Amino acid sequence: MGWELNRTLAPLGEMYAFGPDELDLINIDALVRAIHDVQPQVIVNASAFTAVDQAEKEPDLAMLLNEKVPMVMAEEARKLNAAFVHYSTDYVFDGTKTSAYTEEDRTNPLNVYGQSKLKGEQAIGQVGGANVILRTSWVYSLRGAGFVSKVLSWARKQETLKIVTDQVGSPTWARMLAEATAAMIARSLPDAQAYFAERNGVYHLGGAGGVSRFDFTRAILEFDPRPQEQIVRNFEAALTADFPTPALRPLFTELDCSRFERVFGLRLPDWKIALQWAMGE
Ligand SMILES: NC(=O)c1ccc[n+]([C@@H]2O[C@H](COP(=O)([O-])OP(=O)(O)OC[C@H]3O[C@@H](n4cnc5c(N)ncnc54)[C@H](OP(=O)(O)O)[C@@H]3O)[C@@H](O)[C@H]2O)c1
Repeated sequence: MGWELNRTLAPLGEMYAFGPDELDLINIDALVRAIHDVQPQVIVNASAFTAVDQAEKEPDLAMLLNEKVPMVMAEEARKLNAAFVHYSTDYVFDGTKTSAYTEEDRTNPLNVYGQSKLKGEQAIGQVGGANVILRTSWVYSLRGAGFVSKVLSWARKQETLKIVTDQVGSPTWARMLAEATAAMIARSLPDAQAYFAERNGVYHLGGAGGVSRFDFTRAILEFDPRPQEQIVRNFEAALTADFPTPALRPLFTELDCSRFERVFGLRLPDWKIALQWAMGE
C-alpha cells in the first residue's frame, strides 16, 4: 500500500513519504519529530505489523505498531489540525457471519494481529479529531510477495494446487485502494480537517463482492498474462483446517462497503474486474 500511495498521492500537493529505512516507528520520539517537521494537512498511515502468524509470537511489538503508533499519529494530527487516514482489517471479525460485514457488526478478532488492529481503531477513536479508518481485506499487489504472486509462482512449479474453499473474502487491489484514498483526500481539500471531522469513523473498503480462495485462485490463473508457463493441471479443494497455522483466520469476511460509497461518493469496482486490470499490467 505504501508504494502505491506514494504514486497516487503525489499529484495532490507536497508529499513526504517515510518508509522503514527513513523512520523506525518503534522510535515514538522520532515519529513525533517527523510529523512536527513536516506539519502535514493529512497523515496517511500505511504502516503496520502485518505478519499474522508472527504476531502470535510477538504480541508486544504487534500492539506497539498497530495500536500505539496509530494512536500517536492521531494525537499529533489532532494537535496540528490535520486529518488522519488509517487502514484496518477484516480480521477484526470472527468470520461467523454469512452475509457481508457492515461497520455495525460485532467485532471479535481471532488472533493477535486482529486484536492489535482493533485496539488501534479504538485508540484512534478515543483521540477524536478528523480520523478516517478504512477497513480493507485480502490486499494484493503484483509487486509484493502476497497471495496473487504466490499463486502465479506455485502454478509454474506444481502440477497440483490444493486451495481452500472455506475462506471467503473481498480481494482488494492495492492500487485501487490507493486511488480511492487519493480521490477521497482530493475531495477533502483545501480544508481536509473540516471535511474528515464531519465524516469521522470506520468505513469498509474492499473490492466489491466476495469469493472463496479457491475461486480467486482460478481467476488469477485465468488472467495470468503468461499462461503457457503454467504447469498446474489439477485443482484440489481443501479446508483451512488442512493447513494448521499459529494464528486462527476468520473464514468469512466479505465486506459491505455501502457506507463508504454513501458518505464519500466513491467505490471500488468488482474484485474480478480489478484483478483483470491488475493482471493486465
Ligand atoms: N495485506 C492485506 O491483505 C491487508 C488486509 C487488510 C488490511 N490490511 C492493512 O492495510 C495496511 C497496509 O498493509 P500492507 O498490505 O501494505 O502491509 P505491508 O506490505 O506489510 O506494509 C506495512 C509496512 O509497514 C512497515 N513497517 C512495519 N514495522 C515498521 C517499523 N517499525 N517502522 C517503520 N515501518 C514499519 C513495513 O516495513 P517492512 O517492509 O520493512 O516490513 C511495511 O513497509 C495495514 O494497515 C494492514 O493492516 C492489509
